[in-house]
Amino acid sequence: MNFPIIAPSVLSADFANLGRDIEMINASEADWFHVDVMDGVFVPNISFGFPVIKSLQKLGKKPLDVHLMIVQPERYIKDFKAVGADILSVHYEACTHLHRTIYAIKEEGMKAGVAINPHTPVHLLKDIIKDIDLVCMMSVNPGFGGQKFIEQTYAKCYDLKAMILAAGSSCLIEIDGGVNAETAPKLLNSGADVLVAGNYVFASSDPVSTIQSLKNTGKDTTLAS
Ligand code: DX5
Ligand code: ZN
Repeated sequence: MNFPIIAPSVLSADFANLGRDIEMINASEADWFHVDVMDGVFVPNISFGFPVIKSLQKLGKKPLDVHLMIVQPERYIKDFKAVGADILSVHYEACTHLHRTIYAIKEEGMKAGVAINPHTPVHLLKDIIKDIDLVCMMSVNPGFGGQKFIEQTYAKCYDLKAMILAAGSSCLIEIDGGVNAETAPKLLNSGADVLVAGNYVFASSDPVSTIQSLKNTGKDTTLAS
């Protein structure tokens, strides 16, 4: 895997031209599609559901990284597998039986992730860190694209990386919210592996180049020839 992994967030795409935006991501250096599912209960917003994700799977040529911002996500694990999810992340705050839910996701053949809200300390993941493939660390309050990055995320990311290394886990750290040219290099220095970017990519006049610049964050491109 060529790090950092870049996952444009489809939430910021133009839904009247979704096919065009999916093709843009296909043609770019992006690694995954980040797919935000919101239920209007866990978060104060409703995004999209199965028919849209199925369309994404049909056209998209990259893995679907599905971030569930819903209550009782365990009820829909098989449904997300059926519409093409490759990675399925559930919120720590939404799961009473997180370990059971993680294994139910893995049994369906998907990678399992845990998302944490900005106020949730990383040490709460200590006893699950070896069982999961990804931590989706929220660097904004979940629910909306285009919000301001929460600075405390750098320290959390650093602590989580130390926990992962100490446990000998291969879990990846994904940062979700407010990723841009300013925050991306600092996040990578703090141990991030995956950068989600919504507004920064889709509000840009040249999304393909913006994705490329994120992909090249921290690399000395002047030496490449
Ligand atoms: C927020 C979502 C994010 C969002 C990121 O609840 O989980 O994935 O799309 O958007 P930006 O990059 O615009 O902050
Ligand atoms: Zn997300």
